[in-house]
Amino acid sequence: MKLTLAVSFAAASMARAASPVNVLLCIEAYCPGCQQFTTDDLIPTYEALGSDVMNVTVVPFGNAHLNDGPDSMTCQHGEDECSGNSYEQCAISLYPDPTDHLTFIGCFDKISGAMAVDKAFETCATQQGLDWDGISACHDDPDKSWELQQAAAAATPSDHTYVPWVVIDGEQYDLDTETDFFGYICDAYTGDKPAACSGKFAKKIAKCENN
Ligand SMILES: *[C@@H]1O[C@H](CO)[C@@H](O)[C@H](O)[C@H]1NC(C)=O
Repeated sequence: MKLTLAVSFAAASMARAASPVNVLLCIEAYCPGCQQFTTDDLIPTYEALGSDVMNVTVVPFGNAHLNDGPDSMTCQHGEDECSGNSYEQCAISLYPDPTDHLTFIGCFDKISGAMAVDKAFETCATQQGLDWDGISACHDDPDKSWELQQAAAAATPSDHTYVPWVVIDGEQYDLDTETDFFGYICDAYTGDKPAACSGKFAKKIAKCENN
């Protein structure tokens, strides 16, 4: 009797959970619209809803191009962007939990205009207790950093026309028409709506075109 009861309770509580909403965010360092989306939409939404509701994958590469030559690439905002994308790829690789790498990227976005790219990431790593030696060793390792750039290139949808490029459960989240990321995620989640979903953010995001 007791066993039957326990089993039915377990089944009842499992029925309310659902798979998290898959969110792919393609960004590039020094892209103002990416910074805006990350800071104003992604981070607060993730902080409010958490990993049970959102499965976040951040890919820092954006409109960069791998060139035919060995270890050669071109980035929209120049060398600093290539370098910044690499620091972010390294942080994501070393700290796969979005709770750790999202705030690191958000911190960089806030201070990146005020100091050199390496100094900005060092400041953010130190502030957040991340292993700066590990992150910079990854960035400075030509083989490791190139491998991560290639993986990020492959994970960036080739049909993207701007960044931030956001894909939610396989569908493009169109920044031309969508203004409420938080509400969109709440709607997309098929489990019981978290209490936070009764509140809303609404933002219009600028974009960096892919020329
Ligand atoms: C989260 O997304 C990644 C990348 O798309 C995928 O490999 C993984 O299976 C997803 N996890 C869950 C719990 O859906």
